[in-house]
Amino acid sequence: MEQDKILIIDMGSTRNTYIAREIRELGVFTEIHAHDMTREELSKITNIKGIILNGGENRVVDGVQIRASEALLNAGVPVLSVDHEGSAPWPQEEEARIDKLQSFVFNTCKAEANWNMDNFIAEQVAQLRAQVGDGKVLLALSGGVDSSVVAALLIKAIGPQLTCVHVNHGLLRKGEPEEVVHVFREEMGANLIYVDAVDRFLDKLAGVADPEKKRMIIGAEFIRVFEDEARSLKDVKFLAQGTIYPDIIESGTKTVKAVKSHHNVGGLPEDLDFELVEPLKMLFKDEVRECGLALGLPRSMVFRQPFPGPGLGVRCIGAITRDRLEAVRESDAILREEFAKAGLEGKVWQYFTVVPDVKSVGVRDHKRSFEWPVVLRAVNTVDAMTATVERVPYEVLEIITHRITHEVAGVNRVLYDLTPKPAGTIEWE
Ligand code: XMP
Repeated sequence: MEQDKILIIDMGSTRNTYIAREIRELGVFTEIHAHDMTREELSKITNIKGIILNGGENRVVDGVQIRASEALLNAGVPVLSVDHEGSAPWPQEEEARIDKLQSFVFNTCKAEANWNMDNFIAEQVAQLRAQVGDGKVLLALSGGVDSSVVAALLIKAIGPQLTCVHVNHGLLRKGEPEEVVHVFREEMGANLIYVDAVDRFLDKLAGVADPEKKRMIIGAEFIRVFEDEARSLKDVKFLAQGTIYPDIIESGTKTVKAVKSHHNVGGLPEDLDFELVEPLKMLFKDEVRECGLALGLPRSMVFRQPFPGPGLGVRCIGAITRDRLEAVRESDAILREEFAKAGLEGKVWQYFTVVPDVKSVGVRDHKRSFEWPVVLRAVNTVDAMTATVERVPYEVLEIITHRITHEVAGVNRVLYDLTPKPAGTIEWE
């Protein structure tokens, strides 16, 4: 069944996402679009029931007032103008605003509350088939929530035409590459190319201590490895990406620019000229998770905690060495295991270990040892801009300390990082 849609037109408001979200919570699908939509762009969107011209503080760009295109004004559906052309702003009080939205969406537009995940998936599957035809699609599958859900959706829509590439850069958590290969190749029957690029990355990173240089090397090398794979596959026309709504929506009129500039795939050379496939670009993070569950992905994958692109590379402080990297990986696995046992897994936003490049004296087997410390970090946050430290029960910290000092080679000390953000950041680099 096709979902009814309300279009939110960015007329310079910083609250487009907010309004989009509130209408979705009423059960009606929303999309945010630019003020200059053409007739052709509009015609590609089915079941538009109404349009909200959402004006706001950024209505004037480079001295020119933003105006809605003729196509939008003559779309033949009800138009609600807010804070625009003399119209009133949204009511400040939440209740009054929702009343206004509800009345427009259901009474004026006669939209039905038929936005749900099954309808969304059915519609995306149809759209993907229409976009891709019998073409081949390539996807870099990191195993993160977004790329995993894109993979699952594409497998459902165009199965054998999809090739997933999973690059193991050596900086993933323990068991992660194996889980990606198992879930997608064995359980979901995907074409999956597993690239063992561990040596390639670690060689490039050898001796590099500066965090930003490390990030740059990891990012650039990733593109190179992916590019090599893309070239070896023939006739691939499409590149799928796990772009989600918050990635493309900044705020206000930036939306317009952000949506457009997003169509240049960062870093890939021009001769690899793919058309983008971004089926999640209209979903918020929690909706992406819901979509993943509906498509049968394991909960461990769908509710995975955030993990930085450069992975354990920024948790092995300074120049990365293989032995210290293993200490990060093994201690992280122990931390995750013990947090799961203690029921902290779904409760704490992000938790991990860090191994700084210092050594301290300890005692092992009645002899003096000179080994690394492991730092435990467990934080809660809403938007990652600020964070508080989780009050992990002391007994859990003791168990983790015992296990890490006994099971992880080269580690004789465990510390708990008590620093909120600010003063510290969440990561150590
Ligand atoms: P900070 O350390 O800035 O981290 O407080 C905030 C959030 O961002 C994640 N993070 C990254 N994610 N690439 C990423 O994809 C990166 O280079 C990166 N650095 C930090 C971090 O894990 C936390 O969730």
